[in-house]
Amino acid sequence: MYSEAYESYDSTNRILSVFTDNMMRRKAAEEVIKKKPYKILDIATGTGDSAILLSRLSVEKGIHMEIIGIDANYNMLKIAREKANKENIGNIKFVMGDALNMKYEDNSFDAAICSFALKNFLDIDKFVREVKRVIKKNGKFVVLDISNPQKSIGKVPFYIYIAYMSIFGMLTGKKLYKWLPGSTSAFNRKEFITILRKNRLRNIRIREFLFGISYIISCDK
Ligand SMILES: C[S@@+](CC[C@H](N)C(=O)[O-])C[C@H]1O[C@@H](n2cnc3c(N)ncnc32)[C@H](O)[C@@H]1O
Repeated sequence: MYSEAYESYDSTNRILSVFTDNMMRRKAAEEVIKKKPYKILDIATGTGDSAILLSRLSVEKGIHMEIIGIDANYNMLKIAREKANKENIGNIKFVMGDALNMKYEDNSFDAAICSFALKNFLDIDKFVREVKRVIKKNGKFVVLDISNPQKSIGKVPFYIYIAYMSIFGMLTGKKLYKWLPGSTSAFNRKEFITILRKNRLRNIRIREFLFGISYIISCDK
């Protein structure tokens, strides 16, 4: 799906998020850097927007960081590398990798972020176990995503949003954008939080935006 859509992924992201994705990414990145982490993992980095934003923040705030962005799709990473090269960014490495089977040693990272990618993983429990394994004790894990909101105020905006996505999917004819509305509706945020708790991740905090459609979850190992 991503190999068919990578060239227009960034512009489509802006359109599908009604130009809110970068604002959300910034909030998530600020959460990631709260404890001034040194080694950060951006899981399912895609075209690298969250990793690049973290790198810009490292300059802005004077925090030295090393960022690794992993993704399973070669073409998405190609775009990420091109963007980082264009900005002369030297503190990100983009690497091919599977989020469910990461090649890093236990306790390798001070923090990890995963943006807009949870619904891609077939086994969320395994994913959470992997993240917990690779981050250090007290390390932070931040998730930015969208899903069916919990509160009733968000239900109508969410259905409108899903309809918007579905029309977009039909117009583009791309598999990714046809898959997105169903997978976004089906993703259960409550279940995800239960999985975080089951894996003994601590200090789970949820911040909601845009009627609760968009959210940031942060927790500590
Ligand atoms: C919707 S994109 C999100 C990209 C990026 N994080 C962002 O914020 O725009 C989802 C990404 O997950 C990647 N992906 C899907 N399954 C994966 C897996 N098992 N391991 C690593 N990456 C995966 C896809 O290749 C794709 O780049």
